[in-house]
Amino acid sequence: MVPIPKEVMDLLKPGEEQMEVVKVLATADEKGVPHAIILGSLMAIDEETLAFALVWAGTTQKNLETTKEACVIVYKHPMTAYRIQGFFEEIVTSGGLFDRFVDELKKYNLECRGVIKIKVGEIYTAGPPAPGQKIAC
Ligand SMILES: Cc1cc2nc3c(=O)[nH]c(=O)nc-3n(C[C@H](O)[C@H](O)[C@H](O)COP(=O)(O)O)c2cc1C
Repeated sequence: MVPIPKEVMDLLKPGEEQMEVVKVLATADEKGVPHAIILGSLMAIDEETLAFALVWAGTTQKNLETTKEACVIVYKHPMTAYRIQGFFEEIVTSGGLFDRFVDELKKYNLECRGVIKIKVGEIYTAGPPAPGQKIAC
């Protein structure tokens, strides 16, 4: 597994200050049809794992369960961006991690149906000076 580099971890910490970080998750169905969503709740829960709250996501959940493939873009204004390739690990619906997300979403009056965990594979830069460069694998 890949330890997420510090500069990428900095964009994936939990907390209010991360609201300015845009996080997009792309998946694909069994025919290869791509599907991308924005995720406010996406964060790193350790150096090798991303997680997000299932609030509305339906197609994304189905795609992850079916094809396992995940591609995340994290972007912070003006020019900092990374692409993270990963794969579906599991959906958690009880325990400490789930409770953490439930409590966080309660602040916004949102219900968390579950927490999806994504194992990190490869990480690339997606902004200048050298977009497309592999920085972890
Ligand atoms: C700023 C913002 C943050 C969002 N955060 C989440 C989230 O954390 N979890 C979620 O399930 N959907 C979130 N959504 C909605 C998703 O982008 C998506 O439209 C929705 O989950 C439906 O996904 P689906 O097309 O895979 O069914 C967010 C939307 C916006 C605009």
